Order: sequence, then structure tokens, then C-alpha cells
Amino acid sequence: MTRRHRIAVIPGDGIGAEVVEQGVLVVEAAGARHGFRAEWTRFPWGAEYCLAHGRMMAADALTQLGQFDAIYLGAVGDPRIQDHVTLNGLLLPIRRGFDQYACVRPARTLDGVRGPLVGNPPIDLVVVRENTEGEYAQAGGRAHQGTPAEVAVQTAIFTRHGTERIIRFAFELAQNRRKRLTSITKSNAQGFSMVFWDEVFEALKPDYPDVETESILVDAACIHLVRRPSSFDVLVASNLFGDILSDLTAALTGSLGLAPSANLNPERKYPSMFEPVHGSAPDIAGLRIANPAAAILSAAMMLTFLGEDEAGAAINKAVTTVLAAGAVLPADLGGTGSTEAVGAAIVTEIERS
Ligand code: NAI
Ligand code: MG
Repeated sequence: MTRRHRIAVIPGDGIGAEVVEQGVLVVEAAGARHGFRAEWTRFPWGAEYCLAHGRMMAADALTQLGQFDAIYLGAVGDPRIQDHVTLNGLLLPIRRGFDQYACVRPARTLDGVRGPLVGNPPIDLVVVRENTEGEYAQAGGRAHQGTPAEVAVQTAIFTRHGTERIIRFAFELAQNRRKRLTSITKSNAQGFSMVFWDEVFEALKPDYPDVETESILVDAACIHLVRRPSSFDVLVASNLFGDILSDLTAALTGSLGLAPSANLNPERKYPSMFEPVHGSAPDIAGLRIANPAAAILSAAMMLTFLGEDEAGAAINKAVTTVLAAGAVLPADLGGTGSTEAVGAAIVTEIERS
């Protein structure tokens, strides 16, 4: 019997919708080849929906999405709406509501893709970002708005529960990789939250004696990622630091257009969500030049999480093969291939392999 996976698709805004369409086609091709069927249900949520309905997604969105095996998201963000409205209206409620506490962002140099660093050092690392609390807990407030006495308070929240589970997740991931874990901190300046983070990291180390560890300040991490990127395996960071560092690691491998991500609820109590690291890129939206690789590699992470390891691996391989061949390359990698042309080349490669 054919295996079935029910997937909620939120194409979203700008290039989000463009790249997700290619991801869907690639998954269809992989399903035909590897014995499963993906059943897609599309949700028209995002900026247009917000302009029409005054909210980014339906009021019962989490109830609707809760029925699915996974969520496949493009990106949200539109110049007509403030970014904190789009993010807090869709992305963050899903991540928090479904307790998708582990944001997993691999960065890997691909054959044939040159990064910006001299000598093109090989990079194969994963940023594990805490995804439900920390600096994005959206706790705080504003008072005396518009007056000279105005005050804004944004509080970061670090719980023992939240900090322990993300660091454990990262240790376990490192155990299945090259067994190196780097904790990203800022305890020199943030004497409460980051000192606490360091203490939790120290306390958990003895449970993973086979994993080599280091702890570095986030600003120093920016230097080390540029100067010795090959030395990193798994990095674990708070919500804000992981967000920032994963844009850097994406750029180091050649383009933001190559960086996939997963928002995981590892216990599988709720659906997990898969999306490219990049946003809706209004500067190139509609031009059909967005690189669909990040969205396609995110779909591969989704299939792997759903137990379709062969299909996930086949998609990764097809993306690598197409980019290495160089006949059809997207604009961000120096080519002239459209979003559709790159997607189609990857589909062809899956069908051929
Ligand atoms: P962005 O990631 O959308 O774009 C940054 C730069 O990278 C732009 O020059 C863009 O053209 C380029 N780029 C991004 N993805 C690309 C791709 N696949 N192929 C080729 N070039 C690509 O980040 P930006 O400009 O800061 O944000 C734009 C909007 O997206 C904002 O409204 C922001 O809030 C939203 N955003 C949404 C995210 C999400 O939904 N997960 C994540 C990041 C930003
Ligand atoms: Mg980001």
C-alpha cells in the first residue's frame, strides 16, 4: 500500500509562494519514485489575507493545521505590512503553538557552488536554534507612547525546561554527526540569561561524554565561523543568536537561497514545520529568479522527518547534482535559470536517478 502524508502548505508571500511550488513538484516526483503519496492542502494565509481580513491566518488556524502530518511554508513578509505583524501573526504563533522548539538549520558547501571565503573551505555544520522562548518570547510592553517619556521593554525568557531540552537535542544531534558541539553564549554581557545558559550547558556535558564541546561568545563566533568554518559541527544557540548566525552560515556556503530549515516538535505531539531560512525577498518577488533550492532542501528535511529517508536523500542528491553540473543555475549562483527551470532540472534528475 502506498504510504500517505498529509501536508499543509502555506505558500505565503513574495518568493515564498514561488519556491514552494517547486518544492511540491519535487516531492511529487520523489513520491512517484519512492512509493509514497503527498496529499497537499493549501492555506492562503499571509499578507494578502491580512489586508483582506485584518489577520495573518484564520482564527482557528492552529486547530486546522493540527490535523496534518507536517507543514510546508514558503515565507511571510510584505512591504505593505510591518514585519512584526506578519511574524507575530503567523510564524511565531505556529512555532510556539506547536511547541516546535528545535529549529534545525544545516549549512553545507555543495559541489560546484563557491562560497565567498578564500579557498572555498568545506562547511558541514548545523545551527540548532531555540525556537519558542528566549529573546522572541514577545514579553514586554510600551508605555507613554509618543511622549518624551516613552519607554519600551522587551524581556528575554529562559526557562530551565526550554534551555535544557534544546541543549539536549543539540547534544544528541552531535552524537549522530561528528561529535562536536559549540554552545553560543554572551555571558560576559548578559549576566542573568546567558550565565544561566552556560550553567545548563555545563551541567548536561557529563551525560554526553563522547561529544567534544566548546563555548564561545556570539561575537567571537562570527569571527570563528568566517576564519575556521570547517571546524564546526553542531552549534546550539538561543532564538536570536541562532537566527542571526544561521544567516551568516547560509551566506558562507554560497547563498541564502541554499539554506533549508526545520522547526521540529521532536516528540511529534504536534506537526513540525519546514521552510527555507530566507524570507519573502520583496526585492526579487515576481521576477521568477528566486533560487528554489532552500525550499526544496527543506522539503527533503520534511520527508526525512516523516520517515521517507530514501526520498529525502534522493532530493539532496538531485539538488547537489544539478548545481554541480552547472547547466541550469539560478541567478544568486551566477546563472540565468528561472525558479521553474531550476525546479524542473531537479525533478528531471530525480526521475532519471
Ligand atoms: P530575505 O531573506 O527575504 O532576503 C534577503 C536577501 O537575500 C534579498 O536580497 C533577497 O533577494 C535574497 N534572497 C533571499 N532568498 C533568496 C532566494 N531563494 N534566491 C535568491 N535570492 C534570495 O530577507 P529580508 O529582505 O530581510 O526580508 C524580506 C521579508 O521577509 C521581510 O518582510 C521579513 O520580515 C520576511 N522574512 C520572513 C521570514 C520567514 O517567513 N521565515 C524569514 C526572514 C525574513
Ligand atoms: Mg532569520
